[in-house]
Amino acid sequence: MKNILVTGGAGFIGSNFINYILNKRDDYFIVNLDKLTYAGNLENLKEVESKKNYTFIKGDIVNAELINFVFEKYKIKYVINFAAESHVDRSISGSEIFFRTNVIGTNVLLEAAKRFNVERFLQISTDEVYGSLGSTGLFSEKTPIAPNSPYSASKASSDMMTMAFNHTYGLPTVITRCSNNYGPLQFPEKLIPLMILNAIQNKKLPVYGDGMNIRDWIYVIDHNKAVELVFEKGKIGEVYNIGASNELPNIEIVKVILKNLNKSEELIQFVKDRPGHDKRYAIDSSKIQNELKWKPEFNFESAIVNTIEWYLKNKKWWERIISGEYQSYYNKQYSDRI
Ligand code: NAD
Ligand code: DAU
Repeated sequence: MKNILVTGGAGFIGSNFINYILNKRDDYFIVNLDKLTYAGNLENLKEVESKKNYTFIKGDIVNAELINFVFEKYKIKYVINFAAESHVDRSISGSEIFFRTNVIGTNVLLEAAKRFNVERFLQISTDEVYGSLGSTGLFSEKTPIAPNSPYSASKASSDMMTMAFNHTYGLPTVITRCSNNYGPLQFPEKLIPLMILNAIQNKKLPVYGDGMNIRDWIYVIDHNKAVELVFEKGKIGEVYNIGASNELPNIEIVKVILKNLNKSEELIQFVKDRPGHDKRYAIDSSKIQNELKWKPEFNFESAIVNTIEWYLKNKKWWERIISGEYQSYYNKQYSDRI
């Protein structure tokens, strides 16, 4: 049995990971530690909550005393660190919590991992650490780190601390850097679920700038299958980029959503741009494809339809979210843009 501390497992990617992995493996004992911020939701984990090889702890990765206690109590030998403040717009409105959770929190986990001699520490990172691309080229693992937003700067710092622990102390670390995820259970502050929910409700769809910024989209299950592979077989000390080679300008995504929901493009509203808005992300995933034999299995055309259908079928899930703190976030974020 592998005793694995999964942090941030109540969020979008972490909960998809736990649901996927516990359906598949009974040689993993998962301790899910999550602070349950606005983005954490235990409803995401209903199908696994009664499993014997799963337990949940509400807690903050910054709390070193708690983290040491958890490592000791559960004899943790593996860490997968999903926990983070993850939304770029929120980092622009206030960077402090991003530094606290993403940088200090990761450092607390690394210190504990060193103290308890973990066998593998997987840091879940992002392609945003590479900064922005022009109209050509791809991010490879050799692309220099050049983050632009407070969010990406905090993620780059945690990556560098992870690498330093490997280099200095020999801590067995690996890092994954994935592109933009979409799929079920994504908090509706992010582009795809926000546009789906606004369109369902016949609200305006706020597209930043001219809508021509490009992201490289991957279905969350493809990301999590890559995470599983890197966790099992990735080479210690290495970084693996993950992406599905599916570049699209934001406006195209918005149009696909409207078309699938049979809604008018008149709902589109171009609004004030995001400050420092990265122009283009695009991932070269040849390293993970060649070394670990991973490849994406979902194509965008059908996976986006699955995603839209999931939001249509799970109205209660998102109605609870949008009736809470989300409403004041939304008003603050969008009122002076429109
Ligand atoms: P999310 O915001 O949906 O979930 C983050 C989770 O972390 C939440 O459950 C939250 O409660 C928890 N959390 C936040 N602060 C915490 C703390 N101090 N202690 C413990 N738990 C805490 O994020 P996500 O989209 O699922 O992203 C997960 C990870 O993947 C992040 O590290 C993010 O940087 C990375 N990532 C995300 C994407 C993407 O497209 N969403 C792409 C590449 C990488
Ligand atoms: O690339 C990986 C990153 O992708 C992850 O590390 C982050 O955690 C994740 O949030 C995501 O960051 P982005 O900033 O790319 O995602 P977001 O969904 O916020 O925005 C995607 C694009 O859509 C971006 O160009 C901004 C634009 N956008 C976003 C929102 C929320 C809009 O035009 N309107 C909006 O209302």
